[in-house]
Amino acid sequence: MKLKIAVLAGDGIGPEIMEQGVAVLKATAEKFGHETTFTEALCGAHAIDEVGDPFPEETFKICQEADAVLFASVGDPRFDNDPTAKVRPEQGLLAMRKKLGLFANIRPVQTFDCLVHKSPLKDELVSGADFICIRELTGGMYFGEKKEGTDEAYDTNYYTRPEVERILRVAYQYTQRRRRHLTVVDKANVLASSRLWRKVAQEMMTEYPDVQTDFMYVDNAAMRMIQDPKFFDVMVTENTFGDILTDEGSCITGSMGLLPSASTGSSTPVFEPIHGSWPQGKGLNIANPLAQILSVAMLFEHFGLEAEGALIREAVNASLDQNIRTPEIQVEGGAHYGTREVGTWIVDYIRNK
Ligand code: IPM
Ligand code: MN
Repeated sequence: MKLKIAVLAGDGIGPEIMEQGVAVLKATAEKFGHETTFTEALCGAHAIDEVGDPFPEETFKICQEADAVLFASVGDPRFDNDPTAKVRPEQGLLAMRKKLGLFANIRPVQTFDCLVHKSPLKDELVSGADFICIRELTGGMYFGEKKEGTDEAYDTNYYTRPEVERILRVAYQYTQRRRRHLTVVDKANVLASSRLWRKVAQEMMTEYPDVQTDFMYVDNAAMRMIQDPKFFDVMVTENTFGDILTDEGSCITGSMGLLPSASTGSSTPVFEPIHGSWPQGKGLNIANPLAQILSVAMLFEHFGLEAEGALIREAVNASLDQNIRTPEIQVEGGAHYGTREVGTWIVDYIRNK
């Protein structure tokens, strides 16, 4: 297979983890005889500095022409503490999602047995937890009508029936490959937009009689994820709730540096870690590259290349089992491995397999 990849490394630790992601992608493609080309493009704070736009037209073009985008992270403290900034790095990520029509964000929350002790939750609650959050990504408050005045401000949580239907469709498709249990997360006791979600879901659930469809308020879901994460199989929710719940989900696993994601829609799909740019870790060779590497596994799997994805997952599991780990998940007294060392170990594993 020929794969044309757009590489958007972005800010903070982005370039460091991206280097490892690309190396793993190359090694895996070589192993299985795929032809890959890579085109780097600017985004985030980096792009603001260079060309004054966090998602320049040139980057958009490169993404559109690619088969897949491998994305790392954007964000910079220079903008975080300046509410008056006219343009922000995060707008680059949002523009990419909107322009590429990436309405479905797939965020698996998968635990690793050898890291269960790193979770803030008790072992027996975490061990075996495995669910997917399907987050709607191009609607809701993120993109609804906004006003930012001196004395008043608002964001509109706007959704249309087709937007809700298409994301629920994706969620139901995922349930077919899993345990056939869907939880629709909303706030239908308060929000009109949530009542639309619930109405549409109640209509659609009759088309999937083999799936158990539950409805849960988002506050309750936030609690249930901590009390009983194994309850969930596939969870589907709107943009803002999905943003919040997936950060919560990532900490269940023990480190934010472990969770990949895929965003799909009408144009080129994007594969990216769910964590941010961690500016404090930049340049220190301590960032965990596994979320980026697992995003590469999701990329292969998206194209039906299951064996390629499986080999990457096997290599990641082997690195964890053999304590080839970045500091935040290393066992006490374990040897020090940095971003590069973990990445290189995984590349070697794939080459020698
Ligand atoms: C995420 C991030 C983004 C979001 C930010 C960086 C705009 O937190 O991908 O979850 O809020 O969607
Ligand atoms: Mn987030």
